[in-house]
Amino acid sequence: MKQTKNRLTTSLMITLFGLLIVLSVSSQTSEEQTAVDTMQAKDSILAVINTDYQSIKPILQKSCFDCHSDQTDYPWYHSLPVIGSMIDDHIKEGREHLDLSNDFPFGTKESLKGILHEIKGELESGDMPLAGYQLFHWNSAIEGEAQDSVFAWIDSTLARMEMFRLEVESAPEPTEDH
Ligand code: HEC
Repeated sequence: MKQTKNRLTTSLMITLFGLLIVLSVSSQTSEEQTAVDTMQAKDSILAVINTDYQSIKPILQKSCFDCHSDQTDYPWYHSLPVIGSMIDDHIKEGREHLDLSNDFPFGTKESLKGILHEIKGELESGDMPLAGYQLFHWNSAIEGEAQDSVFAWIDSTLARMEMFRLEVESAPEPTEDH
């Protein structure tokens, strides 16, 4: 009788132990599964954001890329002493705040949400592109319909980030390349 009880306890223990292993293994795989799902979801949201971004990118390319990307179209006066280094300083400083070299997520030392709000703010106030730049680049101000479409993209991007709780890091700081 005692023996049977012992055997019962043992088999019960084995069953419990087995169940524990099964449970821990299955919870592990479901965690991994969730991680994969989240990564895929994140990639597809980013893809949608970037597909929409392509329609407003030319606007920013024209007015902002000279100082906020690695695709600077240097003016002839960049070869002048003093002026050349002033321009280089603008580009260095501009890219620290906002780097549009790659598509979304942009490079910035701030939060992505923060920088999206700031782009809107700068366009609303007309502070960007810098006044000195606008002097030489007529029509570089982003106004009217162009401004509307940039704002629409920013708003939908913020909404998508909110809706999907999209936590994306901003791209790394630009590396010194000159
Ligand atoms: C001639 C160079 C130049 C151009 C062109 C330019 N920027 Fe800037 N931008 C800068 C510099 C320099 C800074 C950092 C100093 C400052 O805030 O004035 C800056 C800062 C910013 C910031 C951060 C502001 C803050 O308070 O942190 C935003 C956002 C920005 N620019 C957006 C834009 C947008 C959008 C465009 C295009 C419409 C643009 N910039 C065009 C040079 C430029």
